[in-house]
Amino acid sequence: MTTVDYSEKIPNNVNLSSDNRLQRALEAWQPRYLDWWREMGPSDFAANEVYLRTAVSVDKDGWAQFGYVRMPDYRWGIFLADPIAGRKVGFGDHADAEAWQQVPGEYRADLRRLIVTQADTEPASVEQQRLLGHTAPSLYDLRNLFQVNVEEGRHLWAMVYLLQTHFGKEGRDEAEELLERRSGNPDRPRILTTFNEPIETWLDFFMFTMFTDRDGKFQLLALAESGFDPLARTCRFMLTEEAHHMFVGQTGVGRVIQRTCELMKQHPGDSPRRHGGIDFETLQKYINFWVSSSTDLFGGEVSSNAATFFAEGIKGRAYEAASPVDHRALDGAYTVEKLVDGAIVREQVPLRNAMNEVLRDAYLDDNQKGVDYWNKIVEKAGLDFRFRLPHRRFNRSIGIYSGARFDLDGNPIHEADWDANKDRWLPSAEDRAYVKSLMRPALAPGQFAGWIAPPPKGINGQPLDFEYVRLGS
Ligand SMILES: [Fe+2]
Ligand SMILES: [Fe+2]
Repeated sequence: MTTVDYSEKIPNNVNLSSDNRLQRALEAWQPRYLDWWREMGPSDFAANEVYLRTAVSVDKDGWAQFGYVRMPDYRWGIFLADPIAGRKVGFGDHADAEAWQQVPGEYRADLRRLIVTQADTEPASVEQQRLLGHTAPSLYDLRNLFQVNVEEGRHLWAMVYLLQTHFGKEGRDEAEELLERRSGNPDRPRILTTFNEPIETWLDFFMFTMFTDRDGKFQLLALAESGFDPLARTCRFMLTEEAHHMFVGQTGVGRVIQRTCELMKQHPGDSPRRHGGIDFETLQKYINFWVSSSTDLFGGEVSSNAATFFAEGIKGRAYEAASPVDHRALDGAYTVEKLVDGAIVREQVPLRNAMNEVLRDAYLDDNQKGVDYWNKIVEKAGLDFRFRLPHRRFNRSIGIYSGARFDLDGNPIHEADWDANKDRWLPSAEDRAYVKSLMRPALAPGQFAGWIAPPPKGINGQPLDFEYVRLGS
């Protein structure tokens, strides 16, 4: 099962050629996908060879092969992790029943909704990032951007495979609509707000891959536990690709911090901005913005939908099967902090209704590890500043905190306090203009823009001055 058949039009490890109808449906969708890529994928660079990795198996080691590819020729395919013999539904009302290879009829609508919501984020992020290539801070970064882009395209393929295989006509319609919505378009936007936010600068890109792709990681972890086995296997392989996206984000921000540290030590007492760097305060504001926006993606704190998905066995908790927890979660409770008459009040809710919050907890813990990594860079440079995560209540647009204002520590504040402080907490128009002013391409092999440090090593053992994108080709 692990071998990928690259002789076929659509590379796959799902024995696609044995299902003529499905193969025809996917082969009919393929040119429309390519049209979408040409229209909404990376602007320009279609003719340039990029040093990309392509999946060649789903084995843990050696699933990727590196080589020069023009992006429109990337072999987007369908890869599912290997089946686990005798796999059971891991949680909810059907815990310990045999996992489903077909969609259970009564859960069809809920499963479709989960898959479409996940699917929609994949092309959305490609659209959000489409202009960044023109201002890349190095060939190394340009290549990483394109790697992320082609893999988000592949994630769309992964979800469309499920829709086309298991959801009949409705699935085929959804597959079409996934190519029709557009990030940020007022008439037919992408489904989730964060995926309609513009990604105008590389700093936004690194924050997005750090914090928003990490939301993706936790959604995929929850869906990888699904009792619907094809979804679980699809998500398990997507997670291996996702890890690189978060590497790009975490190390990207880390390199910006590194560069700022260098400038601060070279020019003590001066603002790093005077020397073309991005000051810590501005970086912290970008963190505050992208963390709060991505925190919304987990949905309401108390959610009957989340309880239903859990009961049905279609969306679990991260690492559910491997965790020594009560997989039915019928008796448990979770303490939610609510805002009542301007004060925070603790309230117990049934655990199943708090599954969004449970997943959000895991996400925020993971974010903290990234922040700790950044603070080590500052500490090593001998500087005092420390980055932090904003409180989960800060700047929320979804859930029980969305109607009120909170400071970075989660304390309720008045609208007037918010107005007085919001430019200190979130990127101001002036901050954004400054960061934008730094976005100039640095595209000679081995060259890096002045606001970001080079990485310690290249991709796949290649040197830093390697021609990661052949711009002359
Ligand atoms: Fe993705
Ligand atoms: Fe991703």
